[in-house]
This record gives sequence, C-alpha cells and structure tokens, in this order.
Amino acid sequence: MIDVESLKEKLIARVHASEAPAEVAKAPEFRELYAQIPSLPPEDRGDFGKRVNELKKAVDDAIGQRKAELATVALPTIDVTAPFDVNSSEPLLLPASQGTLHPLTQEIERVSAIFNRMGFVTEQSREIDDQFHMFETLNFPKGHPARDDYDTFMTVETDQDGDPLIAPAHTSTMQNRVLKKYQGNLAQGEAIAVVVPDRTFRNEDLDARHEHTFYQVEGVYVAKGVHAGMLVATLQKFLEEYYGRSLNVRVNPFYFPFTEPSFEFALECPFCEDGCSVCSHSKWIELLGCGMIHPNVLAAAGIDSDEFTGFAFGCGIDRLVMMKHNIEDIRHLESAKLNFLRQF
Ligand code: DAH
Repeated sequence: MIDVESLKEKLIARVHASEAPAEVAKAPEFRELYAQIPSLPPEDRGDFGKRVNELKKAVDDAIGQRKAELATVALPTIDVTAPFDVNSSEPLLLPASQGTLHPLTQEIERVSAIFNRMGFVTEQSREIDDQFHMFETLNFPKGHPARDDYDTFMTVETDQDGDPLIAPAHTSTMQNRVLKKYQGNLAQGEAIAVVVPDRTFRNEDLDARHEHTFYQVEGVYVAKGVHAGMLVATLQKFLEEYYGRSLNVRVNPFYFPFTEPSFEFALECPFCEDGCSVCSHSKWIELLGCGMIHPNVLAAAGIDSDEFTGFAFGCGIDRLVMMKHNIEDIRHLESAKLNFLRQF
C-alpha cells in the first residue's frame, strides 16, 4: 500500500528539484495509487479518492510555483552586437585573417606617423561644425565670395548666430581650435606643430576624381621666424618619406583667404619620367594648398602676428593613396566593396 501523505512529500520535493516540473504530474506513482482502489473496502474508497485529489492539487500548485520560479531566473545577458551566433554552443568568431584595416585608415596612420616623427602632434577633426570655425576664423567674412568654393552639406538646425551647421568641407575648420589649444607652447619657446588627418565633405558631382566624403590632412606650424622655405622643406620631406624616394617639388602662387602668400604645391610624378596617365602626361601632380598663415587667422586665435609667424597646408589624402596604390576611381574608397578592399 502506498501512503498518500508520504507520496505527497516525495512528489513535491521532486517538483522543486525539477527543471521540467510539469512532468511530475505524470509520475507513475499516480497510476499505482489508482490501481489500489479496487482492493479497498467500498466504504473507504470515497475518502481515499478525496485524499488522492488533494495530493494532485498540491502537486499541481507546486508545479505552478516552480514554473514561476524558473521563469524569473536571470538569463545571461546577450550581446546583440557580437559577431557570432549567440545561440550556438561555441562562439564562431570571424577569423582575424578575414579583416583588415581600410586602406585609407592604414595610410592615415602612415601619414600621421611621418609627421609625428617630424615633431607634429595629431588631432582629430569633426563631422559637424559651425560657420565661425569653417569660415570666420579663417578670414572669410560673411558674404565673402570664396565661401562658395566650399559648398557642402548644411543642417536645418542653426547655431547661436542663426547660421546652419555645416559638414566641414576642409580640415582647416580645426585651425583656430588647435592654434588656441597649443598656444601655451609659444610662451615656453616651443612651436605649435599639429596635423589633423580626418574626414571632409563636399557637395560634389561625383566622378572618378570627386567624392562627397574624402580625407584631408591639415598641418599648422607656428613659432618665431617661420618662413616659406620651412614650409616647402617640410612638405617635400613628408612626400619623400611617404613615397620612399627623393622627389622634386614645385610651388606656384595661388589664393586662399587664410594664407598670405598662398601656394599650390606640386610634386614631380613619382611614377614616370616622361609623363603617364597618373600625371596626365604633365610630369607634375598638383597635390595640395598651403601658405603662410594670414595675420588675421593668428589674431583670431589670440596669437601676436608681429612676434610669431607660421605655415599651414591642406592635402587630400585620398589622392595620395590613389597614386600610391594606382587606384583609378576615388569612389572605390567609400564603396565598401570587398573585392576592392581585400586587395589591401
Ligand atoms: N583648406 C584648403 C582646401 O581644402 C586647403 C588648404 C590650403 C589648407 C592652404 C591650408 C592652407 O591649411 O594653408 O581647399
């Protein structure tokens, strides 16, 4: 004979220990209890049935409780950004051999490292800026026609002057900030020497040479007695390091509001002696804009232009990289095409 009371205790204990408590409701012991009924005296059967029903109810209640308990157990947190299937027993991490730095990132690191060895520190630019930094501090007053050369994307939102914010069309947008940030160097007899390699934007008609998103490296160097010869030597040295060979450079007069005098800087084509498709058979490649920092730009950063002078330059990085790797279309760089990227 099975004792109903001790079975109740046993089954409830089983429910509490179980990960699948509902299974306990189908325990074979219930069948054994029912099998006993025919052998009981008829007058005891009603009472026995009642006790079995109580047992069933107690077990069902315990099952309900245990289910609620299991449902509230804290689940391990899931990292939804994980590069593997969180449901698989072993994480399938992508092999490192399948990933590389983007060619532009690799080259930006190289460009930055060359300038760092020359004593420049690297700063970042920004992807949204105000017209004060993009134009005013660079000696483009409101309504200045040269602003039209820097056509880019503007927001509906406006800054404190009521002007739209702007996706910077050149890294020069950082000049005022870095001049101010490193101004203390001058008081200590050291130079301000900063490069800003970063992303820039223009509202371009896209073709093999024009992209709406591209990269520039800005350079500023301010100290006592800085002259244009230092500018030319610095850029020439940089380009020779970058292309790993000695190169001739050429400097032509140009116009930028933020430099005086301003120059357009060309280098002898590193790929040919008599003209090739990279240099459009001219043997020279116009590479960047540069000049001596305009006194108004120094003044906007609180630097006395009677005491200090400086040079600045802005060079397209995509162009440097395209020439180095013989890439024929600038649009490949932002395309995210694996066929292209896997070559680097
Ligand atoms: N910001 C200019 C451009 O994107 C390039 C440039 C020219 C930068 C002369 C300079 C500079 O710092 O001195 O067209």
